[in-house]
Amino acid sequence: MSSIIQAGFLQTDPEFGAVDKNLSHAKQLWEDRKADLLVLPELFNTGYQFQSLDEARNLSEPIPGGPTTGFLMDWARESGMVIVAGLAEREGDVLYNSAVIVGPRGYIGKFRKAHIFDTETQFFQPGDLPFTVFDTGFAKIGIMICFDWRFPETARTLALQGADVIAHPANLVLPDCPQAMITRCLENRVFAVTADRVGTEQRLPGATLKFIGQSQAVDPDGTILIRASEDREEAHVAALDLDKARNKKINGHNDLFADRREDLYRVGGKG
Ligand code: ACM
Repeated sequence: MSSIIQAGFLQTDPEFGAVDKNLSHAKQLWEDRKADLLVLPELFNTGYQFQSLDEARNLSEPIPGGPTTGFLMDWARESGMVIVAGLAEREGDVLYNSAVIVGPRGYIGKFRKAHIFDTETQFFQPGDLPFTVFDTGFAKIGIMICFDWRFPETARTLALQGADVIAHPANLVLPDCPQAMITRCLENRVFAVTADRVGTEQRLPGATLKFIGQSQAVDPDGTILIRASEDREEAHVAALDLDKARNKKINGHNDLFADRREDLYRVGGKG
């Protein structure tokens, strides 16, 4: 079986709160491209900047069981793709900034953003699910969401669990992530597909958010395979040779994982 897969991403500009429109628009933007994996942005169905907890609650959904997961399951079944997409999750009274992974045979799993960013803390609880690698048959896919990039333990944990590809739904506002993801890929020899959004949201006084785009696919050598613009909606597909991520050797003498000095590292505590 070939180790080459086609991985796509969408860079969108969702209209806040217009869930049905944002879902159908994402599908239109993708057109009939072919891929094994498609990654969509964080909160791609709702937009990002909630004005109140009530608003966030009304726009959140159970995963699985909500309409957005249902839409994505239908899309995955029709297209044969595995799809990873970000959405607000409601479980009882608690909200999480989550991502769902679905495939042609239905629901696969979910991840809840571990490191919630800035004012998200007013709406979402920090994720309580372990970092998980989902074995889709054609690839082992780890998920992290936007600001999780800022914590290198996130990508490391997924890579140590055998992730070939990190699917990274995002709504980036800080400028550093696209470059930082090159390092995350290099230090773990994994692929990463970051699906970001563009546009601005101005729903809170004095808090205009400009999203930086630059969605990208990066390979285990840190090579940018594709990087999208800063300001346009775009759809792209990159070929990923997964054998590259499965070989952790840097040269004849160094292996990125075998050479780790766990006897010297102290990363488990507070200081
Ligand atoms: C972010 O985590 N959406 C910046």
